[in-house]
Amino acid sequence: MLVKPKGCHDIYGVEAKKWQYVNKVIDDLMNRYNYDYIRTPIFESSEVFHRGVGETTDIVTKETYDFIDRGDRPMTLRPEGTAGVVRSYIENKMYGDATQPVKLYYNGTMYRYERPQSGRDRELTQFGVEVLGCDNPMIDAEVISVPVNLFKTLGLQEIKVNINSLGDKESRDAYREALIKYFEPHIKDLCPDCQERLKKNPLRILDCKVDKDSDILKNAPITIDYLNEESKKRFDDVKKYLTLLEVDYEVDTRLVRGLDYYNHTVFEIEAKVDGFGSNNVLAGGGRYNGLVDLLGGPQTPGIGFALGMGRLLMALDLEKIDLPINNSLDAFVMYVSDSEKEYAISLTQYLRMNNYKVEMEYMGRGLKGQFKQADRLNSKYLIILNDEDLQNDMVKIKNNETKEEFEVGIDYLIYFFEEQATKEEYSDIDIELYMNENSEIEE
Ligand code: HAM
Repeated sequence: MLVKPKGCHDIYGVEAKKWQYVNKVIDDLMNRYNYDYIRTPIFESSEVFHRGVGETTDIVTKETYDFIDRGDRPMTLRPEGTAGVVRSYIENKMYGDATQPVKLYYNGTMYRYERPQSGRDRELTQFGVEVLGCDNPMIDAEVISVPVNLFKTLGLQEIKVNINSLGDKESRDAYREALIKYFEPHIKDLCPDCQERLKKNPLRILDCKVDKDSDILKNAPITIDYLNEESKKRFDDVKKYLTLLEVDYEVDTRLVRGLDYYNHTVFEIEAKVDGFGSNNVLAGGGRYNGLVDLLGGPQTPGIGFALGMGRLLMALDLEKIDLPINNSLDAFVMYVSDSEKEYAISLTQYLRMNNYKVEMEYMGRGLKGQFKQADRLNSKYLIILNDEDLQNDMVKIKNNETKEEFEVGIDYLIYFFEEQATKEEYSDIDIELYMNENSEIEE
């Protein structure tokens, strides 16, 4: 039997409906925040990611899917979205757009050759945003508020926002020096990868998966002790704006993130619900004021985050949140004879074109079987065709919940469904909701 590659998933059935629902919520949220959707290629020339994400990162040294295409060009399946979006920003000269900053979002598959486990896949889907052309800490806070508000909208409760600052170049250089000085005497106690990292990029030691619980790492210097005045002020501003946006956060002085492009603000949002396991970071991101010029564009500040959709869906399941998934039909069209069948085809099409979710019989079942099928599909109404009614331009309709039956003129079908929907909508609304405190209903 042919099977899917390790670390990949087939998303179908109820699971697929949940993804579609969450995607809709994301599109709606992004519309309200005024972010534009962007789609970039799933593969890019290797340089985009190798240079963009950083040659010393775990992603680039161990996890990229690199290949040579048939024209002998080195290509890489995207391991994340930021570098591709920044490449597109430069190539399409978005820095020249009149409406700055450029606020973009994406939602698509990424590829990392990781050891698959719960919450860690080789094909993963990320929803992410990138804001380019604005250095104002207001934007840092806004970007952090996006996933927080998405979680609120979906009803997630058990989350924790961690923030930190790596500071500007001067602060980062000072911190780098301090790390080298601190780790050098301990070099033999670090894993072989970290021994390499000390020479190339000591910051990477701090997110080493092997050494992460060692005392050497726990006692390492922390970034905020090396922030210069300007970087400190920026970080204070980000915190102030987060409070204005009602985002609860904690400062995590150990947070450095696993990609090279960050400076100033970095953040991660963890799922705290029981049972999640160790891969519980739902979203992560930060500022990258040097990435646009690193990839060949003009000096431009940027900030963004990405959220793992698979992990988000896991969190929703573990918090037992029932998403409002539409698992029902408006109507199921039933028939027996050939002439009824032909009418059923046109009628189904007509109702679908009028925005109703309608299914019909295709499998040659008898009426009894069709009733069963309509039940399985949770159809609210049954439209039961028979030749005699059709000759009089009528159809029989049955409300499959209340079992009420109606005879409806064909020309009035849409009117009938609209009227039923209005009745349903208002049947259980408390009329007092519409009244001011002291007003009375006039008889
Ligand atoms: P990242 O931290 O590498 O950042 O990934 C962001 C999120 O993607 C993680 O928090 C996690 O939820 C999900 N994720 C990452 N790897 C996997 C995996 N193997 N399996 C399942 N989920 C995974 C970035 O990718 C940056 N581009 C974020 C960013 C955007 N920074 C600035 N702008």
